[in-house]
Amino acid sequence: MNRPQIITLPKFLDARGNLSFVEQENHIPFVIRRTYWLYDVPGGESRGGHAYKENQEFIVALSGSFDVVLDDGIEKKVFTLNRSYYGLYVPKGLWREMENFSTNSLALIISSTDYDATDYIRDYSVFLKYKKNGEI
Ligand code: TYD
Repeated sequence: MNRPQIITLPKFLDARGNLSFVEQENHIPFVIRRTYWLYDVPGGESRGGHAYKENQEFIVALSGSFDVVLDDGIEKKVFTLNRSYYGLYVPKGLWREMENFSTNSLALIISSTDYDATDYIRDYSVFLKYKKNGEI
């Protein structure tokens, strides 16, 4: 899978509270190496203007809502996440930003690699060069 995609997860609706889950290489197309979360993000704030050379991600709005903007160097797509039973699969090699966080939102990010600062491209013009040369 090399295109971004909304993936709907299993959900068990129950008067006691609902339950969803995600399994590696089943609901998402990679083995999980790491997970991190963004919390206490001020309402309206933006984060994460960067691309990864290798890392793939699956992003879930566990609470509240935010937009994930993905850019392949040619076009941008905006995905609004606002339910905890689906998420966005983000393949490697896309510029991604996260915007419009609602107050008290909670973003869970599941990653395919360990944290590696050298995997990040943080300069948009460098990203475009990588894309142009077919390096990512
Ligand atoms: P950063 O990548 O700047 O966040 P954003 O995705 O919003 O651009 O990460 C903030 C800091 O957290 C940075 O100093 C690196 C550190 N960090 C880790 O140590 N491990 C991780 O898994 C992540 C995602 C970040």
